Amino acid sequence: MGKLDWMDVSDLSFNALLLLEKMQLDYLPKMEIPRKELAVALKANPAVEWYLRHKTAWLDSWLDAVKEENPGLTLSRERIRRAEIAVLENMSDWLVYVVAPEMYDRLDFLNWDSQELREVADFQGRRVIDLGAGTGRLTLVAAEEAAEVFAVEPVASLREYLKEKAEERGYSNIYVVDGLIEAIPFPGNFADIIMGGHVFGECCLQEYREMLRVVKPGGKLVLCPGNNDCDNEVHDFLVSRSFQWSSFLEPGDGLKRKYWKKVTGSTLEKG
Ligand SMILES: C[S@@+](CC[C@H](N)C(=O)[O-])C[C@H]1O[C@@H](n2cnc3c(N)ncnc32)[C@H](O)[C@@H]1O
Repeated sequence: MGKLDWMDVSDLSFNALLLLEKMQLDYLPKMEIPRKELAVALKANPAVEWYLRHKTAWLDSWLDAVKEENPGLTLSRERIRRAEIAVLENMSDWLVYVVAPEMYDRLDFLNWDSQELREVADFQGRRVIDLGAGTGRLTLVAAEEAAEVFAVEPVASLREYLKEKAEERGYSNIYVVDGLIEAIPFPGNFADIIMGGHVFGECCLQEYREMLRVVKPGGKLVLCPGNNDCDNEVHDFLVSRSFQWSSFLEPGDGLKRKYWKKVTGSTLEKG
């Protein structure tokens, strides 16, 4: 996972890591966190190390290795702060969700044309699920016409933010719930439309199977945006499952691809 410049972390306390949730901590070894900087920062912040180890026990071996590679670090306050910032900068996407959801909500790339979503799904009167709903970029578009939208979001601070935003805007058809794309918290054949933006692709097969399980026969799957504008593994996977696709512009972040597919077949043979 590459570094995303989503917030200025220069004044952020290293204790912000204590706000991260277990499912966020699970990603840490996959991020490009500079290991020496992490070792320096953790040595100076033992409570953060304790939290990481106790919240997510399987991080133990990764943390042990990071520390073993960088033994005996005794450093100045300035050096420690540089290390803390280097670590924080490499997780600014996860941190912005727990520290300042409103900052994520103002990022330029969210200003893509909502018509891109409406073009591929008729929400009128439908039951919709938005996976990885975040601050509601897709949820709020669907809720204009849908009967009900279930916004599934694993990060509690984002759920709170989205609930408040939906209430402030007067929506009574948005239900914000905890859950994961790879374990959707609804029974089979539940929704007419299942969608997600910037969330599909960590475990394509498992995520796709879950969406297929929960969508009604004849329903629709929509990923908007579902991918960068490139023929990578995610693209090949989706095309091999008969998704249609096209590209559109995300302001400040270039072309992205959206994918959509009408699900055919009976309950047992959906595909
Ligand atoms: C880049 S944001 C996109 C948010 C929103 N869909 C949008 O387009 O603005 C990714 C979102 O997916 C959530 N997320 C990350 N991993 C997830 C998972 N395994 N299942 C469901 N949501 C996940 C994050 O918490 C975050 O809110």
